[in-house]
Amino acid sequence: MRYLIIALAFSASAMADKAIDSPSLERQQELHNMLAHDCGSCHGLTLKGGLGPSLLPKALAGKSDQFLVHTILEGRKGTAMPPWKPFITEQEALWIVQKLLK
Ligand code: HEC
Repeated sequence: MRYLIIALAFSASAMADKAIDSPSLERQQELHNMLAHDCGSCHGLTLKGGLGPSLLPKALAGKSDQFLVHTILEGRKGTAMPPWKPFITEQEALWIVQKLLK
């Protein structure tokens, strides 16, 4: 029984590790460029806002990761915010959100 619990704890922590896996360094660089150029074309090169609202930590404070990831992946219907699902994974969207919130 004890071994079973240890095994379960171990696999749970392995899964948790996986959930926070960052994209590869190369992909992080690509995502970083995308933030500046693609997202920046609407949200401003420094993300302070433009056609789209500011994406600086102060502006996003209080909004959940899940809500922001959803916005990035699905876009916002009826606004200029397009869906990015064809280009990035959910994990990558979460990485972007965590980067924006820092
Ligand atoms: C064509 C213009 C455009 C581009 C490109 C764009 N956005 Fe947006 N985005 C918007 C607009 C407009 C809104 C506000 C939508 C609304 O009124 O709710 C928005 C909203 C958002 C929000 C929600 C902000 C909040 O305070 O709720 C996030 C997060 C976001 N965009 C992230 C991104 C990211 C990340 C990218 C690049 C991968 C990106 N956007 C590219 C126009 C754009």
